[in-house]
Amino acid sequence: MLLTDEVSLTYLEADRVVKAVDQVSVEVRHGEFVGIMGPSGSGKSSLLYLMSGLKLPTGGEVRYQNRVIHLLSERERMLLRRREFGFVFQQPYLLPYLTALENVLVAVPGDRDAYQRAVQLFEQLGLLHLVNRYPHKLSGGERQRVCVVRAMVHQPRIIFADEPTASLDHINGHAVIRLLASYREQGAVVVVTHDPEMLADADRVYSLRDGRLVLPSRV
Ligand SMILES: Nc1ncnc2c1ncn2[C@@H]1O[C@H](COP(=O)(O)OP(=O)(O)O)[C@@H](O)[C@H]1O
Ligand SMILES: [Mg+2]
Repeated sequence: MLLTDEVSLTYLEADRVVKAVDQVSVEVRHGEFVGIMGPSGSGKSSLLYLMSGLKLPTGGEVRYQNRVIHLLSERERMLLRRREFGFVFQQPYLLPYLTALENVLVAVPGDRDAYQRAVQLFEQLGLLHLVNRYPHKLSGGERQRVCVVRAMVHQPRIIFADEPTASLDHINGHAVIRLLASYREQGAVVVVTHDPEMLADADRVYSLRDGRLVLPSRV
């Protein structure tokens, strides 16, 4: 459903060229949990930004369901991200003055089914006891799980998560990964991490170093 064809992203700094992503070809198929691994600075976030259309390639291309992302208009790209992609970031950011459920619902303004779907999701995921809590009454792991529910509630085709477990302990990290991985039944999940343990259950794992794909990738 999504693939990159020798995609590159080069940053021009004052006096140097940084090849953050260097001719990388990866693939995400429907029903997959795909991992992207690599040390800090290896280009993981940059690759994720390219895959999700947040940044445009300086070489190669990204195709999502046979549409070349950089050939879409800015508005089309924005709509694509909003309707078809969901995002989870490293820091589980929730609005402090809204409950868990309200935080999930602010992502879907005007969607009348969203409330039902959100409550159902919390229930299915065993998080119903959290719905009326404010973020300061949630642990880091619980907050991140609420962020995953928020990404899921608008039923994206692909969820992109950038180091979603980096600020969590092991037990909470695994719970967040389990939750994300469960979404592959509805579409696909792409998780960036530097912790190989989090990708034990992935269908496909790509490894990056200095912006390039390296072995061993589990394809
Ligand atoms: N906006 C930017 N301007 C210049 N260089 C950047 C920018 N963002 C990232 N880089 C550089 O690109 C490389 C890859 O960064 P990044 O994709 O954030 O890696 P990772 O997520 O694996 O830590 C690094 O060398 C980083 O310093
Ligand atoms: Mg990063």
